[in-house]
Amino acid sequence: MNKGEAKGKVILFGEHFVVHGAPAIACGISSGVVVELKESDQNRIITKHKVIEKLSLDGIERVLAVMGIHERYDVHLTGDLRTYGGLGSSAAFCVALVKALAKEKDIHLTKAEINKYAYAGEGAFHGNPSGIDNTIATHGGVVEFRRGKTPEENQFDFLELYKPLDIVISFSGKYSQTAKMVERVKEFKSQDEEEFAQLVDEYTDIVSKGRTALEKGQIDVIGNLMNANQSLVSELGLSDEGNDKINEIALANGALGAKLTGGGGGGCCIALAKDENHAKKIEEKIKEKGFDSFATKVSN
Ligand code: MEV
Repeated sequence: MNKGEAKGKVILFGEHFVVHGAPAIACGISSGVVVELKESDQNRIITKHKVIEKLSLDGIERVLAVMGIHERYDVHLTGDLRTYGGLGSSAAFCVALVKALAKEKDIHLTKAEINKYAYAGEGAFHGNPSGIDNTIATHGGVVEFRRGKTPEENQFDFLELYKPLDIVISFSGKYSQTAKMVERVKEFKSQDEEEFAQLVDEYTDIVSKGRTALEKGQIDVIGNLMNANQSLVSELGLSDEGNDKINEIALANGALGAKLTGGGGGGCCIALAKDENHAKKIEEKIKEKGFDSFATKVSN
């Protein structure tokens, strides 16, 4: 069976704002997905992970169509990336699928092509993806991404973290429906354009300071900016009880900053720790309160 792999991501700054053209910073994580293919009479998604079958099949069809492939496949999905929403699992799935199909058909793809085909698949999972998730799943590293008017006009560049960050990724236990949350922000914007523009301005200041702090290793500043970012997504109505609770536990245990990551409305949160031991302690405290959590490092 031909195989493709891709990693998940966390968004340090800018989920949702990025959909509306503001820059965002995301980084790859070590957890990822594995896709293996077996030619079949129809497309099937075979996995122990929690997935929405209809969306996965739609994603597979879109990827096959954009790659001009007419065969059908049993698509086996494994790997250690949780598919709860927030960690870019749909984008990683699409990237891994494109890579596996390229092997199957013995074609060489550039990263730009992999990214483009995966983006076509991402559209199945939520109607208006910015492209940040598939970009990071394709390239890894730490990326500042800005959406263009068309996917061809998307811009991104890699930034160098001064030092790796110790973060704690936690799961609210509630599956986050990115499409629903993206729609919520669209409604917010249409109801109060002025207020939305004000929030985007505030956010843009956060991401620009955030980039500098990441490059200079100003860990306290990064934490404060994550908290400020969290306040803005809360104002947009994206942070639910589970997200708030996890952030509260992390901050009460000395996290330098805590925010939801990804679509919100459940899904995942990230907390910034002072070092590896501190990250482990925060992880344990969050687990004690019944949430799944793990400490990890993000690096260049
Ligand atoms: C999802 O990981 C991030 C969102 O900003 C959606 C997107 O950028 O496509 C919520």
